[in-house]
Amino acid sequence: RQLVVLDVDGGVDDAQAMMLALTHPHVQVLGITCVAGNVKVNQVCQNVLRVLKVFGRPEVPVFAGASVSLLGTHVDACHYLGQDGMGDVPDPDPPSADLVQSEHAVSALLRLSKEYPDEINLVATGPLTNLALAVRTDPGFPARLRKLTLMGGNIHGLGNVTPSAEYNFWCDPEAAHVVLEGYRSLFPITVVPWETCVQDHDISWDTWMDICAIPTKRGQFHAAIQQQMIAKQKQHRLFSAHFHTYDLYAVAVALFPEVLYKTLEVYARVELKGEITRGQMVCDYNDKWGKHPNVRVVKKLDLPSVLNMLRRALE
Ligand code: BDR
Ligand code: CA
Repeated sequence: RQLVVLDVDGGVDDAQAMMLALTHPHVQVLGITCVAGNVKVNQVCQNVLRVLKVFGRPEVPVFAGASVSLLGTHVDACHYLGQDGMGDVPDPDPPSADLVQSEHAVSALLRLSKEYPDEINLVATGPLTNLALAVRTDPGFPARLRKLTLMGGNIHGLGNVTPSAEYNFWCDPEAAHVVLEGYRSLFPITVVPWETCVQDHDISWDTWMDICAIPTKRGQFHAAIQQQMIAKQKQHRLFSAHFHTYDLYAVAVALFPEVLYKTLEVYARVELKGEITRGQMVCDYNDKWGKHPNVRVVKKLDLPSVLNMLRRALE
């Protein structure tokens, strides 16, 4: 049995990540903590409840967390993922907001880590605000986790929200900094960076359309919420020849370490000041700072196996 907690920001690809975890026979999802990112935190909770409903898992507790970054900002990604973060597919029977737990996400993270010491496999696929607040509230928190895997940051300065920064890190660079420094007891934190998602992990449109044609209720829901993101990707100047996805990989490597083909351990920091590079993850490949690595960067994974896992989750 693996105990998993997901910290998500409610996007289409966060939903895919949830689907993989929720359908794994040996995984128990202890809770899903929500953070503002792709959409406002209340909408993140709504999206999570909706995925839980479609996947028949209403018992999984959902916790609302930070609504703004540590510095008080919030910039959504609605232009890319839809006004609701999940493709604006009408929900005829929306889950009641009362289903969200009254406990704050950060308090839930701390409590669960005490109830299940050394057992929790934490996967973060949004801005890292909740995780930063958790370690600042209780510095012993990371040491009580089993491992941490996150989607975010970049390894060669390729950005998706600015030329140099990836969205999850850019949304809350201070939080990303706190996590890279404050979770070192968990070494190595596994990081799926932006470049890995869009380079060397091209999914042919045929393959993706096949996955979007899975005729089950889950498959149809998955296909419906993708449509806006697919349209955006087809318009992309550099990457339109193939489909790319992101958060799914963080859950895949967290739950199935055998899909990791190539990783690299390196010391990484987050640029907090740069006028044009704020939020960029900077990797010290040349050992200039002489520091022990703090992250294990995922460079290559077994993409066909991960896609098969997604197929199984939808069938
Ligand atoms: C990340 O940004 C979000 O929009 C996606 O859900 C993913 O977590 C990719 O940069
Ligand atoms: Ca996300």
